[in-house]
Amino acid sequence: MIEVTSLTKVYGTGDGAVTAVDDVSLSVPSGQVFGILGRSGAGKTTLMRCLTALERPTSGSVTIGEVNLTELSASGLRKARHRMGMIFQHFNLLGSRTAADNIAFPLEVQGVPAAERRARVAELIELVGLQGREHAFPSQLSGGQKQRVGIARALAAHPDVLFCDEATSALDPATTEQILDLLKEINRRTGVTIVLITHESEVVRRICDAAALMASGRVVEQGPLLELLADPDSRLADILLPVGDVSLDPEHTSVVLGFAHGGTTEPVISGLTRRFGLDVSILGGAVETVAGHKVGRLRVALTHPDGGYDRDAVAAYLAEHEVSVHL
Ligand SMILES: Nc1ncnc2c1ncn2[C@@H]1O[C@H](COP(=O)(O)OP(=O)(O)OP(=O)(O)O)[C@@H](O)[C@H]1O
Ligand SMILES: [Mg+2]
Repeated sequence: MIEVTSLTKVYGTGDGAVTAVDDVSLSVPSGQVFGILGRSGAGKTTLMRCLTALERPTSGSVTIGEVNLTELSASGLRKARHRMGMIFQHFNLLGSRTAADNIAFPLEVQGVPAAERRARVAELIELVGLQGREHAFPSQLSGGQKQRVGIARALAAHPDVLFCDEATSALDPATTEQILDLLKEINRRTGVTIVLITHESEVVRRICDAAALMASGRVVEQGPLLELLADPDSRLADILLPVGDVSLDPEHTSVVLGFAHGGTTEPVISGLTRRFGLDVSILGGAVETVAGHKVGRLRVALTHPDGGYDRDAVAAYLAEHEVSVHL
């Protein structure tokens, strides 16, 4: 479990001060894939640098497991960092070392004996699907293969948490999907907690169990993905499964229906017409598989030929079918 409490990071002082992370509190449950989504400049990398103790926060605290990073000495921090793996957008591999020797590097630094290192590297090469490429140099590898080396190196010392900063942003869409699926598979097989920082909603949609939305240094929303997607008012849900804005709806009769826990296999919409005599127009929406579940969001305009309708009864009917709505 990662617990971030009232974390603030200010760069510079006086008129030039920039509050890159502004009073952020976060909980990341162990064993989850947790996404932090935000636009450029939102403060994601700064937050990640505080989580990995590469940066001292101005105030607030970061606890990973039982260890409060903000209370550690320099040597304590080095030890804590051995429990973390990190992967980066531009891979950060050593060009003069082969794939296998890049993966072995953190084990060398930690003084792991050569025979044990070789065995662990062989295991990791298999885990990330790089069999046959272990003696290639980074310049001889594709972007996707380089990131596989980066992932294997980050996992070498059996970290508790894998931190990924824009791990797929330098890759094409097909390779991005492969690398994301590999991360999910590693999470499933090893139970390692993964924190992914990204500006791409596809990354969150594809593999995250839970997520936070960052804007201007703040976390504006966080929670389990399915819960957020079931919330018609969620901003994160609107980024992940956009339903179009209210300008599509000049009559102002539209509502957002969230199908996160069910409802996608039942004729709920035609039920609104049959049971309540409502006219239903679909203004926008999306249905996707998110975190292995079929999830949908629809913006629909609900009108009744006679004018009004019984909102409480409609809300109860939708709730019965596990469709969330705020009428
Ligand atoms: N070392 C630094 N010194 C001063 N300001 C900084 C420093 N690092 C980041 N900032 C500022 O903090 C804010 C957040 O930057 P950060 O790099 O954390 O954003 P980000 O969400 O990772 O953006 P991107 O998606 O572009 O990587 C920005 O306004 C940035 O200019
Ligand atoms: Mg960044």
